[in-house]
Amino acid sequence: MNMAGDEIRLAGLQDLDGIMALEKAGFSRGWSAKSWAEEISDHYVVVAGDGLGVIAMSAVAGTVELLRVIVAPQAQGRGLGRALVSHGLEWAEHFGATDVFLEVSASNQAAIQLYESCGFTPLDRRTDYYGPGDDALVYRRVIQPPAGVGQTPIDVVQAPVDVVLPPDVILTQSGSPSHSHGTDSSTTPEETSCPNR
Ligand SMILES: CC(C)(COP(=O)(O)OP(=O)(O)OC[C@H]1O[C@@H](n2cnc3c(N)ncnc32)[C@H](O)[C@@H]1OP(=O)(O)O)[C@@H](O)C(=O)NCCC(=O)NCCS
Repeated sequence: MNMAGDEIRLAGLQDLDGIMALEKAGFSRGWSAKSWAEEISDHYVVVAGDGLGVIAMSAVAGTVELLRVIVAPQAQGRGLGRALVSHGLEWAEHFGATDVFLEVSASNQAAIQLYESCGFTPLDRRTDYYGPGDDALVYRRVIQPPAGVGQTPIDVVQAPVDVVLPPDVILTQSGSPSHSHGTDSSTTPEETSCPNR
């Protein structure tokens, strides 16, 4: 597939239709258009290329969460998921976060492999979080602080990630991190983290 023109850029509401197409291809149960619109407005959402991928991140009190990453079926398996996660980690580092957390279905092997290959390590397991028999795994990625700033043993990156984007993925914009999380008590696990497909 020709990657020319594929770029990672900040999402806007004009990207909502493309993001919903990704959402529907990626998950059988998932975020609504309203949820995605709120993410775009309140948090950090970037899209890749012409509707090929999306990642959503949030930041609360210095802790960043990776909420969602989706790659279009026809673009999977060629490094775009890793490029998006790497971009999210760079954003978290720029923001000054010490950790990035995420939740993912224990049965979502592609996502688990992706996250572990990006240096995330398992922290907790939430039984039946997404429904009976569908547990959530909580993962954490420690962010390397700038040299000499707050460097303690726990801050050491456990598995450095290659943050070099594929040559044909061009970073064109970056957004400002938001401090508001934007989820409320009515949201379901599917609306706040990564279920299985
Ligand atoms: C998970 C997902 C984002 C991966 O995107 P991708 O672009 O295909 O991933 P990459 O090509 O960057 O692969 C990076 C690593 O992820 C892992 N991986 C990706 N697809 C995999 C699969 N089907 N099975 C096992 N591991 C897989 C591998 O470790 C891979 O590294 P490698 O190529 O060196 O072996 C994609 O499969 C997807 O959109 N799934 C549906 C939505 C979803 O479940 N999102 C995650 C939870 S929010």
